[in-house]
Amino acid sequence: MHRIAILASGTGSNARNIIEHFADSEMVEVKLIAANKTTAGVLTVAQDFGIASMILTKENFLESDDFVNHLKKLKIEFVILAGFLWKVPSNMVKAYKGRILNIHPALLPNHGGKGMYGHHVHEAVHKAKDAESGITVHLVNEHYDKGDIYFQVRTTLRTEDTPQEIERKVRELEIAYFPDVIEKFISENL
Ligand code: GAR
Repeated sequence: MHRIAILASGTGSNARNIIEHFADSEMVEVKLIAANKTTAGVLTVAQDFGIASMILTKENFLESDDFVNHLKKLKIEFVILAGFLWKVPSNMVKAYKGRILNIHPALLPNHGGKGMYGHHVHEAVHKAKDAESGITVHLVNEHYDKGDIYFQVRTTLRTEDTPQEIERKVRELEIAYFPDVIEKFISENL
């Protein structure tokens, strides 16, 4: 069984979807959920599924090796960022090089970087009058949204689509594709 950890900051709809996808898997086990906010909905998701969860702080995540050591102790092999808003520190990028995946709710390299998350992304896509958006799953390096792209899928936008409608279309893609993309990535990188 290959163990993964999910890091999230938000409501946790992607985390829930990933957990449900791997619930009966004989290849992948979601071993840990980590959130950088005590209010993150993803903690409720962890509780619902009886998965260990923890809170990330500046001290344990950004300013020490505590979290990386914890991941290693749990024998975590891959880390999935599902709506996680902190930048991953370089000690963790090094320890899990080529084994951290992030989902971004747009077609990188467009509309990425610091401050580009959640509704901000969809508002930027709307403002740019883009004819399409989509999701990007990429490897994580020391720079926001700059790691190698592993997977993208597109959706066509209409000129009248509001940022809310763009978000709805993109979330639909996240739910339809992200767990399978993770599974494929893991099987190719064992
Ligand atoms: C998702 O749309 C994800 O792609 C996005 O945050 C949302 C989290 O939703 N991630 C980013 O914007 C990263 N820059 P969720 O908590 O419901 O899964």
